[in-house]
Amino acid sequence: MKNIRTAIIGAGYRGRYLITLLQKINLFDIIAVSDISPNLSEIISQLFAGEKIPKIYNSGTDDYRRMLNENTIDLVIIASPWHLHKEQTIEALKSGCHVAIEVKGALDIDEYPDIIHESRQNKKQVFPLENTLFRNDILAINNMIHAGIFGRLVFLQGGYRHDLTHILIDQTGNFGVQNGSESEWRSKYYKTENGDLYPTHGLAPLCMFLGINHTDYIKSITSFSTKPGLGLHACMAKRNGMKYTDIQQHTFRMGDVVTSILQTDSGAQINLLHDTTLPRPRSLNYEVQGTNGIWNAEKNAIYIDGLSPFEEWEPEDKYIEQYKHRFWQQWESEALRYDGHHQGMDYIMLRVLGEALQGRENYPATLEDMATWAAVSPYSKISIQKGTSIPFPHF
Ligand SMILES: NC(=O)c1ccc[n+]([C@@H]2O[C@H](COP(=O)([O-])OP(=O)(O)OC[C@H]3O[C@@H](n4cnc5c(N)ncnc54)[C@H](O)[C@@H]3O)[C@@H](O)[C@H]2O)c1
Repeated sequence: MKNIRTAIIGAGYRGRYLITLLQKINLFDIIAVSDISPNLSEIISQLFAGEKIPKIYNSGTDDYRRMLNENTIDLVIIASPWHLHKEQTIEALKSGCHVAIEVKGALDIDEYPDIIHESRQNKKQVFPLENTLFRNDILAINNMIHAGIFGRLVFLQGGYRHDLTHILIDQTGNFGVQNGSESEWRSKYYKTENGDLYPTHGLAPLCMFLGINHTDYIKSITSFSTKPGLGLHACMAKRNGMKYTDIQQHTFRMGDVVTSILQTDSGAQINLLHDTTLPRPRSLNYEVQGTNGIWNAEKNAIYIDGLSPFEEWEPEDKYIEQYKHRFWQQWESEALRYDGHHQGMDYIMLRVLGEALQGRENYPATLEDMATWAAVSPYSKISIQKGTSIPFPHF
């Protein structure tokens, strides 16, 4: 079967990493790359040293359209800043390509419904690049859930608990440095929004576990926020030596910790955290609790009633090995060899994407799933603003 003719929009931190993995999978040919960076040619020459160099499009913000017009492309991978995803995805769908999009929260309630409409209209697929779905432990826990080991699922938690102050604030205490980097495009939301900006890593695996959009549905969201800006003010004061009170003239809307409680039709509850401006080690905070046992990813531990010693956590390893997913049985060694940075999950994700496009695998998440995860962003903002529970949309 012919290789997948692939084009990339956005060759920043994430786009470049995806390129290095795609080069290792013999299902993709990267034929073109678009990015506004004046250094794109140099970046691509380095990444493709000794290989066929893809065509480069970097003459301004709309040059990706020229790339779509001038080439026959099967798949467009979008790894640009958040505010560009919708327009670029829709343009790629209209030009007859499948799309794989990097993850983020929806910027408004219409964003993904509009993309779903365009995907159906053009009969082209959109694949969410939600890499956590492809983690070895997540896929094994999913197998255990389907084998009934945890019983009926009751309570799940997850979150994006990642101190981003190293991105949002520079070393001398300036917030949102204006250099076109993630610092600039990500930081502006902290001044204007209060909600869960980045829900998909924490939520997507939990939705897979619960069969959301298949056998269960999220019916409501209730979100809460702590006082805005405390962590950002403290970090700025620490870095620029100013008094904390002087720093407070910077106004932020984003609470340091946003908690969303999602309730499902079946009666399960998901607690989701967005926690990005306080000092802490990184965590996705996963826990899954059912009528017969519990998994806690932070502890790397499992407790199964009747199997584990009474009220004692067991190391998860033997279970993860026993219930290893077939993706990992097939591709583990190459995944770990090429994708040390993300413990193999990005490699497995791209491998499954390639296999799915060639008709040999089912990709385990749809655009409608992405719309569901991403809807937490706008609906958490509405819930916080109104101080009430909000019905959750179905897609
Ligand atoms: N799944 C993960 O683990 C993971 C990790 C990091 C980032 N991400 C996601 O990847 C996406 C990109 O994040 P990043 O950290 O690489 O950001 P980044 O700022 O490093 O890269 C974005 C790139 O897009 C380019 N760009 C800007 N405007 C453009 C345009 N009009 N046309 C083409 N290119 C344009 C920029 O020049 C930059 O090189 C985001 O959605 C982010 O949430 C996902």
